[in-house]
Amino acid sequence: MIIAIDGPSGAGKSTLGKMLAKELNLLYLDTGAMYRSVALAVLLEEVSARDHEEIAEIAVDSEIKLDGKPDKLRVRLNGENVTDDIRTNEVSQIASIVSTIPAVRKELVRRQRELGKASKTGAVLDGRDIGTVVFPKADVKFYLTATAEARAKRRHEEDKAKGIKTKLEKTLGEIIRRDERDANRKHSPLQKADDAIEIDTSEMNLEQVFERMLAEIEKKTP
Ligand code: DC
Repeated sequence: MIIAIDGPSGAGKSTLGKMLAKELNLLYLDTGAMYRSVALAVLLEEVSARDHEEIAEIAVDSEIKLDGKPDKLRVRLNGENVTDDIRTNEVSQIASIVSTIPAVRKELVRRQRELGKASKTGAVLDGRDIGTVVFPKADVKFYLTATAEARAKRRHEEDKAKGIKTKLEKTLGEIIRRDERDANRKHSPLQKADDAIEIDTSEMNLEQVFERMLAEIEKKTP
């Protein structure tokens, strides 16, 4: 079984994807972590974000491994544990630029399909183009949304819990900028698949969204 979860950043895709994978014993694939890993490699190699050819080469040459159980995921880039390093603001901004490059997308989409198909029980993938490009025939497709304000507030709370001091307005500005870039890029922009189930999570708590998603999965895969 393949479950696709798409939507803008901060809508709850990864938390819910992990919860579903655990509940249904499926592989969880955080495709954003792959774009982030390429972005980190670009930063480490001090390549300009404008040098698309060099970045495409970095994407092809980088070994990216996502392993561990859904609630204890580890991301490795060329053998190094980069689980935390790929979550900085700087990496977020570069990841959103790197993900506009067609050759980078081609390489990562190929890997995502391979990993998803290799899992015997199936997989939950979260990203922006899972239901439209990576697995257009996924068994169940979700499109999670929330207002930019609700997403900024959640991100702000998460940062606070981690002891990171941020300004809510700044977080909101970053979210709006990333949304714009993800939705307006030429190749595989963030887009709801026609047959995706859209859930606006702005006014829902995690448990409510989780129950709703499980009910939809049961309906589609009796
Ligand atoms: O989900 P995230 O914030 O970790 O994603 C990081 C960046 O990668 C984000 O700018 C969107 C991009 N991305 C993408 O273009 N396609 C995907 N399938 C996943 C992420």
